Amino acid sequence: MPKIELFGPVSEELEIVEAELSKNINTRLDLLRKASTHLIAAGGKRLRPAFALLAARVYQKDLGHVVPLAVALELIHMASLVHDDVIDNSLTRRGTDTVKRAWGNRMSIYAGNYILARSLALVAGYQRSDIVDVLADASMDICEGEIIQMMSAYNVNLGLKNYLRRIERKTALLISVSCQLGAMVSNADEDEVRAVKNYGYYLGMAFQITDDILDFVADEQALGKPTGSDIRQGVITLPAWYALRCAPEKEELAVLLSSPEACKTDAEHIIDIVVNSDGIEYAYHVSQHFARKAEKCLDMVPDGEAKEAFLNISDFILDREF
Ligand code: IPE
Ligand code: IPE
Ligand code: MG
Ligand code: MG
Repeated sequence: MPKIELFGPVSEELEIVEAELSKNINTRLDLLRKASTHLIAAGGKRLRPAFALLAARVYQKDLGHVVPLAVALELIHMASLVHDDVIDNSLTRRGTDTVKRAWGNRMSIYAGNYILARSLALVAGYQRSDIVDVLADASMDICEGEIIQMMSAYNVNLGLKNYLRRIERKTALLISVSCQLGAMVSNADEDEVRAVKNYGYYLGMAFQITDDILDFVADEQALGKPTGSDIRQGVITLPAWYALRCAPEKEELAVLLSSPEACKTDAEHIIDIVVNSDGIEYAYHVSQHFARKAEKCLDMVPDGEAKEAFLNISDFILDREF
C-alpha cells in the first residue's frame, strides 16, 4: 500500500511507530506471533497513529511521549480488523490474505484479542485513567456499531439516522479519539482538545462514507480488500439507501435487498442499480459536507504544518482510491 505523503510533518515519528508495532507483538509463541504480525507487515494507511501525532504536533515539537499512544491506537484498530474479517468472511485485506484466510477463524479470534491486550499494556504506561476511559469507550462503541450494523442488515426501511449512528460508532469515534488523545497528552487546553476531537469526528464520518462508496466503485487491487462486500451481506450503506428512495427500480431493489439469497446471487445487479441511481454522487456530497465541517473545527487551532496537514487530509479522504 502506498505511503501517504500528507503525513509529512510526522513522518519520522511514524517510522518509529512502525518499528514499535512489530516489537510489541513479541510473543515467543510462534503461531501467535506470525498471525499477529501478518497484518502489521501488510502495511495500511496508519491513519489513527498519524492523527494522534499530528494533533500533538500542533502543540509540541518533541513527540516521543505520543509514540506508545499512537501504537496503541493502531493496535486497537487492527484488532477490530482481524475480527471484522472473520465476521465478514473476507479473504483479502491490505493487499494480502486476511488472518482469517491464512490461519482460520479460531486463530483470528485469539490474535485479535492478543493485539487488543497489547494495546492495553501500552496505555497502562501513561498511568492516566482519563486516557483509559476514552479508549475503553471507543472500543465499546466499535463493538456496538458492528452489532447495530448486523441487526440492520436486509432492512430496507431504516432511516438515515440508523446509518449515521452505525458509521459513527464503528469508525468515526476511534478517529476522533485519536485526535483527542494526541492533543490531551500534549498540553492543549480543553477547548483545543475539543476542537481537534470534533475535527476527527467529522473527518471519521466522511472517511467511512468514502469507504462505503469504494465498496461499490473501487478497483479491488488498489483498495487491497474485496469490493461488493456490503451488498453481499445485506449491509445498506448510504449509496444503497439513496437508491432505495430514488432509483427508477426502487421497488425491485427493495425486494432484492430484503433477501439474503438475492444479496448473494444478484449482488452485481444490485450494485448496477445503485451505481446508476446517482447514489454514489449523493453519498459523495454527504461525505464532502462532513469533510467541510471537519475543516471548520480547525478555525481555533493554531496555524502551522500540522494544521495544514489536517486540512489536506480532508481532501485526500474525499478523493482516495484506497
Ligand atoms: C478500514 O480502515 C476499516 C474502516 C474503518 C473503514 P482503514 O481504511 O483505515 O484501514 P487500513 O488501516 O488502511 O488497512
Ligand atoms: C470495518 O468495517 C471494521 C471496523 C471498523 C470494526 P467494514 O467491514 O465496513 O470495513 P472493511 O471494508 O472490512 O475494511
Ligand atoms: Mg464489517
Ligand atoms: Mg469488513
